[in-house]
Amino acid sequence: MSSLTMPKLGLGTYRMTGDGCQAAVESALSLGYRHIDTGQMYGNEAEVGAGLSASGLPRDAYFLTGKVCHALATPNEARASLDETLRRLRTDYLDLCLLHWPRAGLDIPDILEMLTRARQDGLARRIGVANFPLGLLRTAVEDVRAPIVCNQIEYHVLLDQTAILQYLRAHDMTLIAHVPLAQGRLAEHPGLARIAARHGATPAQVALKWLLDQDGVVAIPKAGRDVSQRENLAALDLMLDDADRSAIAALPKDQRFVNPPFAPVWD
Ligand SMILES: NC(=O)c1ccc[n+]([C@@H]2O[C@H](COP(=O)([O-])OP(=O)(O)OC[C@H]3O[C@@H](n4cnc5c(N)ncnc54)[C@H](OP(=O)(O)O)[C@@H]3O)[C@@H](O)[C@H]2O)c1
Repeated sequence: MSSLTMPKLGLGTYRMTGDGCQAAVESALSLGYRHIDTGQMYGNEAEVGAGLSASGLPRDAYFLTGKVCHALATPNEARASLDETLRRLRTDYLDLCLLHWPRAGLDIPDILEMLTRARQDGLARRIGVANFPLGLLRTAVEDVRAPIVCNQIEYHVLLDQTAILQYLRAHDMTLIAHVPLAQGRLAEHPGLARIAARHGATPAQVALKWLLDQDGVVAIPKAGRDVSQRENLAALDLMLDDADRSAIAALPKDQRFVNPPFAPVWD
């Protein structure tokens, strides 16, 4: 299994659309972000591609993640959709291509084989999965033996993901934390606000740095506003101490906010 090198902090783009999406991508890149996360389901690949292009950065200057929509019926359809994705993103390749959800009825070995072939054909440098509970992750790694390098899952201070994180680390794979701010809720969290006050920081920065301090964990907060983008980037400079980590460890860890009807059974 190959290691994945990617900037620890990326920009999520879910719910970004239209000119605002292009502007947010351009702004993030100008501030120094070098990792952008999108997916076919977000319906914003063209705007993300426009932002990437307008930045003037060479293609190898940034890390781009895309996701194949789980609703596509067959691996052939999914493969064809990847060509469209690359066209909309104005690039020849993704740095990382994920299967977005392991929905029921999807032939996981087949779709992973398609992704493996797409990687061999140069459409993606690496492949991975998203929203795989531990059991399915084991299947993908140990039975299907797909060359996946990560699992993108919900992970933040209010949700324990220890078992999956340990498994990923043992297999030299990365945990990409989606909804790292619990969809914005953590920016207002009183417990995090108390920690933040001690450092002259913000609750969102505390939430992000707790993730970014962990080996093998990457975070992709969505931030449309310039002020949020700057704040989240500055979280990298925050120094949390043992007392902060103990206070965060004491928070409830059973709060999952992304659980659509097609989600797998979480184990
Ligand atoms: N693989 C999957 O199934 C999956 C599922 C969900 C999400 N994702 C990925 O993960 C990304 C992040 O998830 P998310 O967008 O749902 O939630 P999130 O990143 O946890 O939270 C985003 C919200 O927090 C706000 N925010 C960001 N930085 C802030 C700051 N410093 N202070 C105050 N508020 C702040 C944003 O506001 P503004 O935009 O107004 O700044 C936005 O409303 C997505 O965009 C997507 O790329 C993947």
